[in-house]
Amino acid sequence: MTKRDFLAVEDWSYEEVEALLALATRVKRGEVVGGLERKVLAMVFLDPSLRTRTSFEAGMFLHGGHAVVLEPGKGSWALETEDGVVMDRDTVEHVTEAARVLGRYADALAVRAFPRGGDWPTAREDAVLRQFARHCEKPVINLESSRRHPCQELADAFTLREKLGETRGRKFVLTWAWHPKALPTAVPVSAALAAARMGMDITIAAPEGCDLDPEDVARIQSLAREAGGGRVSVVHDQADAIASADAVYAKSWGPVSLYGQPEAQRAWFDRSRGWRLTAEHMRTTRGGKGIAMHCLPVRRNVEIDDAVLDGPQSVVVDEAENRLHVQRALLLSMIGSVR
Ligand code: CP
Repeated sequence: MTKRDFLAVEDWSYEEVEALLALATRVKRGEVVGGLERKVLAMVFLDPSLRTRTSFEAGMFLHGGHAVVLEPGKGSWALETEDGVVMDRDTVEHVTEAARVLGRYADALAVRAFPRGGDWPTAREDAVLRQFARHCEKPVINLESSRRHPCQELADAFTLREKLGETRGRKFVLTWAWHPKALPTAVPVSAALAAARMGMDITIAAPEGCDLDPEDVARIQSLAREAGGGRVSVVHDQADAIASADAVYAKSWGPVSLYGQPEAQRAWFDRSRGWRLTAEHMRTTRGGKGIAMHCLPVRRNVEIDDAVLDGPQSVVVDEAENRLHVQRALLLSMIGSVR
């Protein structure tokens, strides 16, 4: 039997994702117990995490399973990810053996691997994640790669439905925010895909030149069409975009056209310092009641003001909580059983 990975939400059918979200609702209500007894999840973090690590560990524990966390170079061997290299430098173990061995110990393997420099045409291939998926005989879960953060995407879709009820035709704004460093595009793309799946009208507000990968924008557009939903527009006026929004998702990202050019990115970022989600913006949302979203971690008063994060329209902590519920549903579906 071929194994089933979870590298991107869109690799699963619309019906499969709906079933996951329905199961997550039951999980959140406390209707599902057990189902992962004697199951082991191995997690490899090549980059830091608070929510992803804790929610997966908690999820495995809550259903009777166990999670093992490895941080290569910090307690487990430094991993080599290039194929065909002579390993006579700092790396001790190749991803090929690591993936094969972890597949013998665990029922699923989960991997976080952010982009690691180079150029965008190379980074966009998600080579490290795909190496793990190729060499591991057990299902592989993407914990955030260069292109996608599918567990965040599931949680965002779940949160939009939970908070808004009927999502179809409602206005979702993904707004860029200034940040001291250029961040990857996986989260903003995944957030827009979540809104597209919910049939929302999507506005992507970002300074001129802050491009996402064109293939990802096309995917957001096609998913929105398939979901019977709305328009996807890209605009450059933040306040105008946020007016009458039902949901505002603030996130920073580096323009993919400047990927791997830190000085050009720095100059570009410094021109756009004013982009931040404020209480004034939130007052202009639909009925002054639109929700404010962010995947976290968030830099307070840089990306989003205190008044928004501490105010009644913020759902960022619920969004983080929902990571736990959708991932419990994912694990039960992939390696467990529901009774
Ligand atoms: N949102 C998210 O993935 O959080 P962590 O980076 O803390 O896991």
